[in-house]
Amino acid sequence: MSRRPLPEALPGSLAFAVDRNSPTPLYRQIYQAFRDAITDRRLRAGARLPSTRSLGEEIGVSRLPVVEAFEQLLAEGYFEARVGVGTFVADVMPAPSTARRGAASSAPAPGRRVVALRPRKLLAKKPEPWLGGRGAFRLSQPAVEHFPFTVWAALLARHARNPKASDLHYADPLGHLPFREAVAAYLRASRGVRCEADQIMVTSGSQQALEIAARALVDPGDRVWVEDPGYAGARDVLAMAGARLVPVAVDEEGLRVASGIARSPKARAVHVTPSHQYPLGSTLSAARRLQLLEWARSSGAWILEDDYDSEYRYESPPIAALQGLDRDARVVYIGTLSKILFPALRIGYLVIPRDLVPRFAAVRDAMDIFPAVNPQAALADFLAEGHFARHLRRTRRIYLERRAALVEALRHELRGVVEVLGDRAGMHLVATLPRTARDRAVAERAAARGLWTMPLSACYLGPARPGLVLGYGGVAPSEILTGVRRLRELLTAPGGSR
Ligand SMILES: Cc1ncc(COP(=O)(O)O)c(C=O)c1O
Repeated sequence: MSRRPLPEALPGSLAFAVDRNSPTPLYRQIYQAFRDAITDRRLRAGARLPSTRSLGEEIGVSRLPVVEAFEQLLAEGYFEARVGVGTFVADVMPAPSTARRGAASSAPAPGRRVVALRPRKLLAKKPEPWLGGRGAFRLSQPAVEHFPFTVWAALLARHARNPKASDLHYADPLGHLPFREAVAAYLRASRGVRCEADQIMVTSGSQQALEIAARALVDPGDRVWVEDPGYAGARDVLAMAGARLVPVAVDEEGLRVASGIARSPKARAVHVTPSHQYPLGSTLSAARRLQLLEWARSSGAWILEDDYDSEYRYESPPIAALQGLDRDARVVYIGTLSKILFPALRIGYLVIPRDLVPRFAAVRDAMDIFPAVNPQAALADFLAEGHFARHLRRTRRIYLERRAALVEALRHELRGVVEVLGDRAGMHLVATLPRTARDRAVAERAAARGLWTMPLSACYLGPARPGLVLGYGGVAPSEILTGVRRLRELLTAPGGSR
């Protein structure tokens, strides 16, 4: 039996030094130096390590951190100890690839990072400087300063302090039953939705609701109608599910159902904002509602009804949800608390046609299993004890006032320059610009001056109409007037809308 030659010992001086002033502990620095040397192939398998004592002396530290570093490297498998012989670098590195470039055309080049194609579109988006700050006229900002945080903190604490054992373990993919019951009751009474708690799924905002619906109903390559202009968040999630988006025009009666049917009669689904079209603000007319339901019934399509801010309607009571008109279980209703309460809560909900509940639940289970319980338990009480209804009443009054301030300021300061659209509901409106205006350039210049206005053209897939989408929910009336004055300076300067 031939004896294997002893591996070569480490060179007398190691090419690393420890830094005593570093916040990184000494043992960690030693560990890191060896790990890097091994993964960089500077230190090869079989190399013999010096004793911990001599290495400590070599680099000027006590033995203890060296021992700790060696123990870690042994535990992780970078070093191996041979009883009675010493410690050696283990054989952990894969053999260097010998494949030559182009040798096998189907194999990726060595080191190439092959990734999925779908996120490319998300990454290719143009910069959106108008999303860079808060204040006038940033979209999707509710009046958080009026939220009853003391009540909310007490409710969260109530459930955090005395949780039921069942609220601490894995639970139903649909969400916390008391909260779902409260949501179902609210939707029946206030939104005309026909539902029971067993059809409600609690989600992380309407964004996750849409993602679950897309995974449950849409296969890659299926066509899905989207409103044009429409909500980019919905388009992104549908595109990530592999849907082929079919832009369908919108007018003052909402989605032009007839053009959708003409363009893509066999689409699998449609994403629609019937109560308050995003961003133009129109309401889907009764005739179009019935036409859309009939198309869905006869073609077998699904209607994804995004009811994101329907609670706020200023000149009439809220418009009942499309779901309540549906006799064929074709509508998947999506709601959110991002507007009524605050977006960082990340709570939304789906109302699922009953026969599809097991399918949606299975998708959810494979996704994030179920939503966090504590905020749902607190929300169930928030609704049951009347805080939700009170907050809704209060914020309705606030937004009514802010909307009036914005409309008045635009009429006064920008008469003849902009036209106001979609101010009857919600927390934003559109100020259209002259046909020749370049709204993206305007919004970029506004953002550079701390004014957050979204260009209307950013909401279009097809030919766009220029304008600015202005949020007013989170903007105090005094700030609204100064904001509009700054906008006027910007727009009325020479070349201001170009
Ligand atoms: C059309 C539309 N749907 C949904 C949402 C809310 O999304 P989420 O509930 O995920 O916060 C928004 C927010 O801006 C929106 O504009």
